[in-house]
Amino acid sequence: MQAENLPNSIAASATRITRDIEILSGPDYTTSNEAIRRYAYTDAYKRAVSYFEDSLSDLGFEVAYDPVGNLVARNRPVGEPVFGIGSHCDSNRNGGRYDGTLGVVAALELCRLNVEENLGLPFQLISWLEEEGSAYGEMLLGSRIAAGRVTDADLAAMRSVDNGIPFMEEAQAAGFEPERWRESREILDDLVGWIEIHIEQGRVLQDAEIQVGLVTAITGVIHADLVITGRADHAGATPMAGRVDAGVVAAEVILAVERLARAAGEGTVGTVGHVTLEPGLRNVVPGLARVALDIRSVDEDELTTVFETTVSAARSAASAHGATVEVVEHQRQPPTPMDSGLVDALASSATDLGVETMRMPSGAAHDTMMVAQRVPSAMLFVPCKDGISHSPAEQARPEDAALALLIALEAIRAPLNTRTAL
Ligand code: GLV
Ligand code: MN
Ligand code: MN
Repeated sequence: MQAENLPNSIAASATRITRDIEILSGPDYTTSNEAIRRYAYTDAYKRAVSYFEDSLSDLGFEVAYDPVGNLVARNRPVGEPVFGIGSHCDSNRNGGRYDGTLGVVAALELCRLNVEENLGLPFQLISWLEEEGSAYGEMLLGSRIAAGRVTDADLAAMRSVDNGIPFMEEAQAAGFEPERWRESREILDDLVGWIEIHIEQGRVLQDAEIQVGLVTAITGVIHADLVITGRADHAGATPMAGRVDAGVVAAEVILAVERLARAAGEGTVGTVGHVTLEPGLRNVVPGLARVALDIRSVDEDELTTVFETTVSAARSAASAHGATVEVVEHQRQPPTPMDSGLVDALASSATDLGVETMRMPSGAAHDTMMVAQRVPSAMLFVPCKDGISHSPAEQARPEDAALALLIALEAIRAPLNTRTAL
């Protein structure tokens, strides 16, 4: 296909993207009619992955799964260099249609254009397992496994949030061989580059009226729980002076996170999005509190400092109330810069197509953080309405995704930008 013909594909691509998203938002692809709920190994998830499997097989791709269930589709034999594209199609627990799924749909559309227009580009599409962490509470699970950023002990400790069944058992029951997880690393072996398309999940692009963002770096993140142990007592019979109230310590932790993240300044955020109190009864002083910390920063030192200072603040608050704190760290990912050569290639391909873009950091985590450990990687963002995500109210424009995939396609095919012989 001639480069000048590619822009004509935008309307056709947008129509097909709309259709894919419509199908994948249907009742067969979610376990709930309130939101998209599509977690690893559920029937709804298997159907979504099968949809991509069938569509890619029709395009002549060999479709396979790694030992934990990451979908890997290639149009070249294993061992030959390929360019990686994809995202994830599992959902947040309060998910919308676009977070993750739009990126896999856009990658599929890229593969369609490659066939239709006889471009002959070598691709490997990956749909990552469990990016959101909805099933086992551990985000980026499939890509972390492929990047080797887990241990046997980590995997053995992971349990379903819903039913307590171990991850290893559920993966086996789904027909995979999770004990061979180390072999997942092989799915990155042949990649000469990687591009993920994703909704922005903020309002920057919408406010700037720009259709495509070029991600420069993905912020680092620490996920940890603070488990505060106090003493459960009768809420009426226990005077205020005699209590060891874990809930009060949790409240102080929430305020400390807010204060410390604000003080760290722009580029650093801290959130307590989930707290459980036990026994969780109106008439009992909480004996135990679990506080879920999510701290992120573009600056690794700030990330560590905010986390450590939060833990110190929690310990002081606990000791002032006679309680104790245990820290359970789930994961710590440093800020991840994107490959500047690939970002520049995307920028110049956008310029060639006459598309205005802007460079921006990603505040959300993405599987690309893990891919970037091994492969030159980049991400393209498209706007989502009012920045809403992790919500059934998510909205994005298919034509923006069509434009983004065109920019990716041009960057991948331009000989100047294919640093390894494709
Ligand atoms: C992933 O969706 C995240 O929490 O950033
Ligand atoms: Mn996502
Ligand atoms: Mn998400």
